[in-house]
Amino acid sequence: MKEKVLLLYSGGLDTSVMIKWLQEQQNFDVLALTLDVGQEKNDLQRIAAKAKKLGAVKTITEDVKDKFSEEFVAQGILNDGLYLDKYPLSTSLARPLMSMEAVKFAEQNDCNIIAHGSTGKGNDQVRFEVSIKALNEDLTVIAPVREMNMNRDEEVEYAKLKNIEVPNGGKYSVDENLWGRSVEGSNIEFINEGVPEDAYKWVLPIEKSVDKPVVLSVTYSGGLPVELNEKQMPLKDLIAELNYVAGQSGIGAIDMIEDRVVGIKSHEFYECPAAITIITGHKYLESLVLSKRESQLKKFMDQQFADMVYSGLWFDPLMDHIKVFQQSINAAVNGMVKLKLYKGNIIPVGVESTNSLYDMSVSTYGKNQTFDQSKAPGFIYVFGSQTIATRKVRKKHLEEMIIKE
Ligand code: ARG
Repeated sequence: MKEKVLLLYSGGLDTSVMIKWLQEQQNFDVLALTLDVGQEKNDLQRIAAKAKKLGAVKTITEDVKDKFSEEFVAQGILNDGLYLDKYPLSTSLARPLMSMEAVKFAEQNDCNIIAHGSTGKGNDQVRFEVSIKALNEDLTVIAPVREMNMNRDEEVEYAKLKNIEVPNGGKYSVDENLWGRSVEGSNIEFINEGVPEDAYKWVLPIEKSVDKPVVLSVTYSGGLPVELNEKQMPLKDLIAELNYVAGQSGIGAIDMIEDRVVGIKSHEFYECPAAITIITGHKYLESLVLSKRESQLKKFMDQQFADMVYSGLWFDPLMDHIKVFQQSINAAVNGMVKLKLYKGNIIPVGVESTNSLYDMSVSTYGKNQTFDQSKAPGFIYVFGSQTIATRKVRKKHLEEMIIKE
């Protein structure tokens, strides 16, 4: 009996070439697993049929949009997850879910090997392999694209030879899900030029974006968006609608020079209109309901989260502690934020919350204020005493240092 391998199959060029290669060069039986995480080409039936045609002995398809939005994207929101303060981790967040599903189906179908389509230069190989091994150490993970060491032209050659349909428009390397679209390669690699317009799909380039400001409201409960324009919606639908609306206003195009886990710097382009809008609103609401020290610690935790998700450490036990912290601190993040979207800008135009820490009678410079200013000098006397005293003691020394320079 042939050995069975479970392949994470997207229907694209890389993984289609892999189906053939795994059968012909490695003599494996291939089981193709295709997941719908909200990518545009999510016709699971058609993709499964293609896998069958290429010789897969079994095809498995699953719509995991609910799971992805509720268990992975939701964490991205609670954590204001932005790698290097910019990238909403769209690709990164989907990988642990895909790994989980792959492990589940490999176990159910007695496969000891899982194959994925990543190259040897990116982050995804790290995410898949750390996640799969963390869930089941006995599984073997292979990455044929990495092992074959074929470049794209060679792959196209091989595909033609084997009668594999080569998708057109495949100029860029694209990964999509409901939280965003990642675009790499081709002309984006030239950093002396801007991101070419043909890399845009979900976001209208600024010059072409709608000319009228769009005002919308997002209502958050426990830190998660539950209503758009006061209409209750499941998270995945709210995201889909915002991807369209905010994209039309030129929101969410992200051009960044990124530090990959493997040490490579790369030029990446992302389109994440909903993610950027939701996180911007979430942060604004947090600034109203969290204390200064809560915000400070949260920011640190947020960055730790983003760095770990980006680096493929979703299943590290530290992540469980972060989740507990984030759930607890987000319990206060309830309320509504109004945002004006215009030409790539997101401008807050109002916020309200039953947990608001803003007290106008205290902060106002107008009349009827309640803050007792007569207490301020005593506070300053105590608060500044150590700075003033330390400076006095060191004054002579400091002067010496300055002259020496
Ligand atoms: N650099 C991004 C990340 O590591 C996106 C990678 C997406 N892959 C692609 N084929 N474009 O999360």
